This record gives sequence, C-alpha cells and structure tokens, in this order.
Amino acid sequence: MKDKILDLLRDQGGYISGEDISRSLGVSRTAVWKHVHSLLEEGYDIEARRPLGYRLRGIPDLLLPREIRRDLEARVLGGNILHFHRLGSTNQVARELARKGAPEGTVVVAEEQTAGKGRWGRNWHSPPRSSISLSLILRPRLAPTDTPQVTLLAAVAVAGALRSACGLEAGIKWPNDVLVGGRKVCGILTELEAEMEEVRFLVLGIGVNVNQAEEDFPPEIRGRATSLRLESGRAVNRVAVARSLLAELDRWYLVYLREGFGPVAAGWKGFNLTLGHRITVSSPQRVLEGTARDLAEDGGLLVELEDGRIARVLAGEVL
Ligand code: BTN
Repeated sequence: MKDKILDLLRDQGGYISGEDISRSLGVSRTAVWKHVHSLLEEGYDIEARRPLGYRLRGIPDLLLPREIRRDLEARVLGGNILHFHRLGSTNQVARELARKGAPEGTVVVAEEQTAGKGRWGRNWHSPPRSSISLSLILRPRLAPTDTPQVTLLAAVAVAGALRSACGLEAGIKWPNDVLVGGRKVCGILTELEAEMEEVRFLVLGIGVNVNQAEEDFPPEIRGRATSLRLESGRAVNRVAVARSLLAELDRWYLVYLREGFGPVAAGWKGFNLTLGHRITVSSPQRVLEGTARDLAEDGGLLVELEDGRIARVLAGEVL
C-alpha cells in the first residue's frame, strides 16, 4: 500500500487529496494517513496541507529497496532486497542468510558497515550515507576453482554501471579493483561455501565509494582511493548507482550462465588496465615481476617472466 501511495504522489507531482488517494486505492482515509505517517518515519518528505492534501517533496537519501527496485531491469537479482541502516558486514549477513537457504539473487544492502571486510583480511571503510555496501547471494552450478570468473564478472558489471550511471571512464586492475583516474573507487570481495566439486553458494560483496570527500578516507588510503563525486565533480545519487549496478550484474550473470566465461573475459579486457603492462604481482605464495599478458581460462593472470616463461597467478594483487 505504501508503494501505491508513493506511486500516486509521484504521478501527481503536486497535491493529491486524502480522499482521492483513499478512493483510488480502496482504503479509508485513516489508513491513508497511517501509511503516510509510516513513510514520513522512513524519511520521505511528504507535506500534508489542508485542504489541498498530500504532496511528495523529497525522497530520503537512503538505499531503500523500494527505491532501488523502481524501474530495475533485472531477472535474477533484486527480487529480495534487505536494507540495514548499520551492520557489521553485508557479506557476513548475506552468508548467514545463504546458509539458512535464502534464494539466489538475494541482496543485502547497508548504509554503514562497522566491520566491512576487504580482500586479504583488510578492513573496508564504509561510512554512513556516502558509500554503497552490498552483497549478493548467487548459487551458480560451478566448480569452486571457477569462482574467480564470477569475481571478474562483477568487476565488468561495476565498471559498466559506473560508465552508464555517471559517465565515468572506469577501468579494471586485475583481478577486480575498479579504478577511475588511477584511484580505486570500488572493491569486490567474493566469498564462497562449497563441497569439493560444487559451489554451494557465493557471496559477492561490492563496496563503492560514492560521495566521499578526500578527507573522508582514512589517511592510509588517501591518494589511492577516490569517490564518484570526487571524479565527476558533483554529488551522485546512490540509489541510481545501486540500481544500475544490479541491472549490469544481472545482465552479465545471465550471459555467463548461458555462454560461459568467454564473453565475460572479452568484457573484462575492454576495461582492462593491467594487460600489456609491466607489473609486480603478489600472491600468497610468491611475488612475481613480469609483463601481464592475458587472462587464463579460470580468470587467473598470465604473466610473462624475464626469462620468457609464462606464470599463472590465480589469486593475488597487482602492486
Ligand atoms: C577489497 O579489498 O578491495 C574488497 C572490498 C569489498 C568491500 C565490500 S563492501 C560490501 C561487502 N561487505 C563487506 O564486508 N565487504 C564487501
């Protein structure tokens, strides 16, 4: 009912009387007022003025599921979006939900994380209202060794979404750091639970820096991190970015399920900032220097060493 009232207010643009709302939705005027009251509590700015009625003045700057879902073009993702004002880590909450059987496509989104997780056990800073922290539950029929492909897929989707939602020239540093202007604007952390042969579920965690100012970043990453606002020079609507992100993720995920890694790898190469460059790459086992030559079948990086040999790095970080 709240969604329907909002639709009416949006369509109307100006004032609409309580009576008109109650008539078109077939509920009492008291019920209309109760729903409006609850929307006010959620942060919607609705003016109530006798004798004109109600008018929608503004929507809250929150990643509310109903706002993200409006005009969302997605088939797998977003049917079930759970919103939190504050939590430890969206990946952690998504993992617990997945263990309890939450369906594929479930999205957990938070305004603020107090224990956001980065790759390699690092912290991820997600301040309230200026970033997007979201995690998706996916249940692809996949061997655990192929999961890096899904992480690359996520990076391709993010880079595409940033280009379409903000017109920014985003690029990808292997495996999945999304950069704008040489600085990191988004990080992706994939976690999985699996049997030996098959993935039980994947949690794809995505953190986007949206409206942070330079001084909002912790000193140790200042200069290496950036936000969409810093890069575009204007405040960015987080809901629009989250929606575009889910639409792109949905699109690429369906392509991947249908056609495999080939198109994803091609998409990744279109955004790639790593291949063809001399790099130092650190993996849990070793640090290598060489020239990044290609993506491997499984999403790993093929590096040509000084002596011409090709090394394959499956998980690591390009320094
Ligand atoms: C990285 O180190 O680059 C990965 C950062 C991933 C951060 C996101 S924010 C949403 C999700 N929840 C987490 O705790 N981490 C991921």
